[in-house]
Amino acid sequence: MLLAVVAGAVVLLFLATALIGAPYVPTHRKEVRRAFRDLYALSEDDVLLDIGSGDGVVLDEACRAGARAVGYEINPILVWISRWRLLHHDSKAVVDTANFWTKPFPSDTTVVYTFGESRDIAKMYRKVSSEATRLERSLMFISYGFAVPSVSHVKHQRAYYLYEVPALHQ
Ligand SMILES: C[S@@+](CC[C@H](N)C(=O)[O-])C[C@H]1O[C@@H](n2cnc3c(N)ncnc32)[C@H](O)[C@@H]1O
Repeated sequence: MLLAVVAGAVVLLFLATALIGAPYVPTHRKEVRRAFRDLYALSEDDVLLDIGSGDGVVLDEACRAGARAVGYEINPILVWISRWRLLHHDSKAVVDTANFWTKPFPSDTTVVYTFGESRDIAKMYRKVSSEATRLERSLMFISYGFAVPSVSHVKHQRAYYLYEVPALHQ
């Protein structure tokens, strides 16, 4: 009985978070690894923010490429799983239970990654643009699966689109 209640609560949590934003589907590890090598060569100078970081696979690959990594994830179960996955990276990887629409980006962010949804991608670009403007410098933006309508990308490789999002003058 208790098991059924717990299982039901977990299913409800995943359904509820899927209604708020993109459902949990992880990026293939091989794809991320290739992207951080050939699309945008991540280095130890980078801080990558994954908005909707799921189980942390992208953060793990970012750390393996030498960068520091931050994840914002709304589903607390996925936050726990990713923290466990990232334990061996110590403070190089941090995951916050957060809604990325409302939480400001860390001030040292250089690259923003998303595996979002087509309905949200233009709004996500605007969020990155407003954060680039607040931070007064451009941010690189990697979108897996979806191009941003009416915005020119710097590079397109397989399912990935890379953008440089400038700070706007206010
Ligand atoms: C398609 S998955 C991608 C996971 C990870 N980025 C990857 O590529 O493996 C999208 C994730 O975004 C999370 N998410 C959706 N809306 C969110 C929001 N407003 N704030 C934080 N996380 C959100 C979901 O819970 C889900 O884990």
